[in-house]
Amino acid sequence: MNSSDDLHGGRESATPASTTGLDLEDCLVGIVGRSNVLADPDVKLAYEVDWTRRFEGRSAFVVRPGSTDEVSAVLAACSGRGVAVVPQGGNTGLVGGGVPSDASAGCVVLSTRRLNTVSQIDRLSGQVTVGAGVTLASLQAAAAAEGLTFPVDLAARESATVGGMIATNAGGLHVIAYGPMRSRVVGLEAVLSDGTVISHLAGLLKDNTGYDLSQLLVGSEGTLAVVTAARLTLVASHAERVVVLLGVASTSEAVRMIEVLRREVEGIKAAEVFFEDGLELVCAHSHLSRPLKGNFPAYLLVEAAGRSDRSEAMFEALASLDIDEEATAVGLDAGSMAALWEYRERHTEAVSALGIPHKLDVTLPIALLGEFELAVRKLVADTAPDARLVLFGHAGDGNLHVNIVGPSPTDETLDEQVLELVASMGGSISAEHGIGRAKARWLHLSRSDSEIRSMQAIKAALDPTGTLNPAVLFSCK
Ligand code: FAD
Ligand code: MLT
Ligand code: ZN
Repeated sequence: MNSSDDLHGGRESATPASTTGLDLEDCLVGIVGRSNVLADPDVKLAYEVDWTRRFEGRSAFVVRPGSTDEVSAVLAACSGRGVAVVPQGGNTGLVGGGVPSDASAGCVVLSTRRLNTVSQIDRLSGQVTVGAGVTLASLQAAAAAEGLTFPVDLAARESATVGGMIATNAGGLHVIAYGPMRSRVVGLEAVLSDGTVISHLAGLLKDNTGYDLSQLLVGSEGTLAVVTAARLTLVASHAERVVVLLGVASTSEAVRMIEVLRREVEGIKAAEVFFEDGLELVCAHSHLSRPLKGNFPAYLLVEAAGRSDRSEAMFEALASLDIDEEATAVGLDAGSMAALWEYRERHTEAVSALGIPHKLDVTLPIALLGEFELAVRKLVADTAPDARLVLFGHAGDGNLHVNIVGPSPTDETLDEQVLELVASMGGSISAEHGIGRAKARWLHLSRSDSEIRSMQAIKAALDPTGTLNPAVLFSCK
């Protein structure tokens, strides 16, 4: 529920949308057609409340352009009238960045979902150009049809869009093998707030011709431009997969095992962690039976994949780790592998079923992950004994998701304490979800004053009217 003032003060001097509403509406209808300008409050609502239900705000209109030219005309119309624009893809973001706020009151939500074209896959380069509104699942299906894989993966795949994933530099389940979204982007097309189109989609791997504007936009959370299309790299598909779920004594133990498995087993693609309370919650929420006979303090889910069978190497490595058979579940076929992944992927929805969560997505230096887990448990127990804390995450890259249910959505006391703890241990306050509105107040915990001033200078250069996502990333507090 943070509200931050407009970076440049532009919103204050701008004409409120309410007084120009009719003009703007006519103009938008002229650009995208009546059926793509949503004004009915009931219809707009789905675009105005975020996935967590913690962040919401009202818009003047939701606009659904169907081409880059239409995005350009919409942005020019809005920035010319001093109307803020909130770009939105699948609305699965978890930091409130894709929905209106107090700072963008009367804004236009620009939905990219109609920009959903997938071009012919270029098998020679292993690349594809897609519209920003293409969902991750559609992209994955298009790649699979050509025997290739788009390797960034996350549980919101059916709704999350390529544009949203680029804007947040989404991470997900396979960062240890393939990196985050940034690693897949070789070019972008995007529109600046004044309507200028910048396009660099040739996909040349060697291209040292000045500033890399595409990479600048990755992770910019809709504050610099609206991404309309992307040139992305694909990887070879791996037919041979093995998934194991291990009951372990602690996070530190899980981290030690990950180090051994990554050294001994070629093709480790994921190393995820969750805990007994989270597993219990998921099993109850999703009506799943428990995966192992016993209960364990922590669980480590590991996937390996390659062109040849990975299971033998995996079993040898597990034997060297001396893991009890009762503490091991193995998935070798598609069904059993998916069943093991469910215990991890269903955490998000199970937590949300408890109430509106405070979601803190942090990275620690991997050697400190175990120490952090214990420290954050103590912090929450001491500060808010009635709160429910559910931890899970991508242990292989040091990323833990800290979910706290109990404190009211506007009470940020614990959020601040957890983020200060993270910073004091040399971690980052946002691993993969972004800063959005949720963490704008605490950007200084992870970035220096000079870094923030440089980022603000870039924002001022590319979006001088402060039109795009005025509540996101920077806070004037
Ligand atoms: P939105 O939510 O619509 O927008 C997110 C941000 O991007 C906003 O600031 C918005 O203004 C901006 N934006 C959207 N489209 C554009 C565009 N075309 N141009 C410019 N700016 C734009 N995230 C991970 O990183 N890893 C995970 O493992 C993961 N798992 C998830 C699991 C679940 C069940 C859920 C609900 C979410 C998960 N997320 C995860 C978070 C979320 O899916 C990602 O942040 C995703 O990248 C958001 O995509 P979106 O299209 O829904 O973006
Ligand atoms: C995940 O890894 O499941 C996601 O990032 C979503 C979440 O943090 O809830
Ligand atoms: Zn995650």
